[in-house]
Amino acid sequence: MIAVAGLAACSKKEPGGGSDDGKITLGFSQVGAESGWRTANTKSVQDAATAAGITLKFSDAQQKQENQIQAIRSFIAQKVDVIAFSPVVESGWDAVLNEAKEAKIPVILTDRAIDSPDTSLYQTFLGSDFIKEGNLAGEWLVKQYEGKNDPVNIVELQGNTGAAPANDRKKGFGDVIAKDPKFKVIASQPGDFTRAKGKEVMEAFLKAHQDIDVLFAHNDDMGLGAIEAIEAAGKKPGVDIKIITIDAVHDGMQALADGKINFIAECSPLLGPQLMELVKKVKNGESVEKRIVTNETTFTQEQAKAALPERKY
Ligand code: AHR
Repeated sequence: MIAVAGLAACSKKEPGGGSDDGKITLGFSQVGAESGWRTANTKSVQDAATAAGITLKFSDAQQKQENQIQAIRSFIAQKVDVIAFSPVVESGWDAVLNEAKEAKIPVILTDRAIDSPDTSLYQTFLGSDFIKEGNLAGEWLVKQYEGKNDPVNIVELQGNTGAAPANDRKKGFGDVIAKDPKFKVIASQPGDFTRAKGKEVMEAFLKAHQDIDVLFAHNDDMGLGAIEAIEAAGKKPGVDIKIITIDAVHDGMQALADGKINFIAECSPLLGPQLMELVKKVKNGESVEKRIVTNETTFTQEQAKAALPERKY
């Protein structure tokens, strides 16, 4: 017991710890590089850290929770000033976040939430309202089929199993379409937020079902992979099968403007500048709001055409 307490005391951060040059050091554990959204998010965080004069220790978890836990432990051992991470899945963080708390290193959740009831494990959560994104996707669909009674067969490509955006977008979309029994989700499977898996799963959906009316993909990349599968099956994406996605990254917006996607609910990856402001505040012991929701919009095909020339990512 005494030995454990002694070890914990050794790992505690001394006031004024961090880098020797007086700069704030941020340890950031990123999910991976699975999508266009993620690439834009990584760039936003890196650029904003440079602009804010914050030393960034960046770690790519390659979509694996064990890699993120290892990265957070390494940040604790290095006595960084602040830890931020985008949790690959919602569950299973209490142990490692208690270690950060014991070491007196503040933690910021960015982009994705965790499901722990212990909210003292992090200072704030900066990111989108994923349930709302799913709601917006569902509401657009309901409007398209207003006044029609025939069944609408929907297939769904989910994000990686257990991730907050996969759970919440599924729920948000499901809650809206459940109000009208003509909407039927005839197949729903994870596509891991990647183009390759989106294509593979869509191929399987197309083989199993001749009568797909709508695809709801939890991100642009899976939608773009699915478009390849739909075209290879001799169907017209956006016409024979209506496609709704989430993100609004450049390639998704191009497909929307080209008529291959029908509607996108935006999820902004540009979290870097706000994150750096929060890092400075928590390092200085200032209070911050527990939940900060990103501003977002939606795009139709016409709106995508207008927005594309200015789209930065
Ligand atoms: O957590 C945000 C989601 O993760 C994005 O919608 C998706 O593209 C990414 O991989």
